[in-house]
Amino acid sequence: MTTLRKIAAGLALATLLGTPAMAAGMVVGFAQVGSESGWRAAETAVTRQEAEKRGVDLKFADAQQKQENQIKAIRSFVAQGVDAILLAPVVATGWDDVLEEAKEAKIPVVLLDRNIETKDDSLYLTAVTSDQVHEGKVAGEYLVEQVGSKDCKVVELQGTTGSSPAIARKKGFEEAIAGKTNISLTRSQTGDFTRTKGKEVMESFIKAENGGKDICAVYAHNDDMAVGAIQAIKEAGLKPGTDIMVVSIDAVPDIFAAMAAGEANATVELTPNMAGPAFDALEAFKKDGTMPPKWIQTESKLYTQADDPKAVMESKKGLGY
Ligand code: AHR
Repeated sequence: MTTLRKIAAGLALATLLGTPAMAAGMVVGFAQVGSESGWRAAETAVTRQEAEKRGVDLKFADAQQKQENQIKAIRSFVAQGVDAILLAPVVATGWDDVLEEAKEAKIPVVLLDRNIETKDDSLYLTAVTSDQVHEGKVAGEYLVEQVGSKDCKVVELQGTTGSSPAIARKKGFEEAIAGKTNISLTRSQTGDFTRTKGKEVMESFIKAENGGKDICAVYAHNDDMAVGAIQAIKEAGLKPGTDIMVVSIDAVPDIFAAMAAGEANATVELTPNMAGPAFDALEAFKKDGTMPPKWIQTESKLYTQADDPKAVMESKKGLGY
């Protein structure tokens, strides 16, 4: 059955049943980044749950953090004639050609959690993402407030090189500390959003900074790298959260456990439920051509040790964690 016929049959069925179950019967390809972090695993789980709830047949492709794998996956989804594609782009650039192919095949693409750089924003239907510059700013402003007039050397664990959150979270943080002469960003390197690399890079920072004694805070672009850094700080004989402040982004349960133990100071929440708004937009678009806004923005809330980390951790259960 052609896609159009499938939609018509879906509409007829929905009318007969008196339900707006437009997503039922939709086949959606999901080109996922990989499984580099706890947050990513939760996003995958939530996407599967949302698809099942809505009767969407989800075709899942794990790119193992490689853009070429995502491009192959998109081409395969186009060849299969899926009804829509969800893309969590590992890096920001280099998407125009493959997205042009999807556009020619009239397959709408929704970006999840990361942005792309393109001159032609008609290549995707909408992007469900947070304001990643704002996330970095919130983390930076928290640090500025905590540090006050004290001298503070900050080290930064960046996300995957070339990814939109790594670029934007760095920018936002730097904006927040700009003009604060007592705060300096002394070292900054990628930890690729993973716990293992976060720990390795933090170890090298500690070595280079007087056994860690000269570091006042670590800013990690995600919680997994922060958890790796906490491990490295402890192994160096220092107290994370006290000797070295730990600030990061995501709000995964493990960082709340660290906050409850006094080993992490703050995190900025990123919801793993990007698929809910994405499917809503696709359903409306498929139903009557409703165009969603180009950006569906998710919230970025700051959590600190004062927010009862154990209770927040409990409340996260079932959200893909
Ligand atoms: O794109 C979102 C980021 O990707 C999350 O903050 C990080 O944990 C993940 O790997």
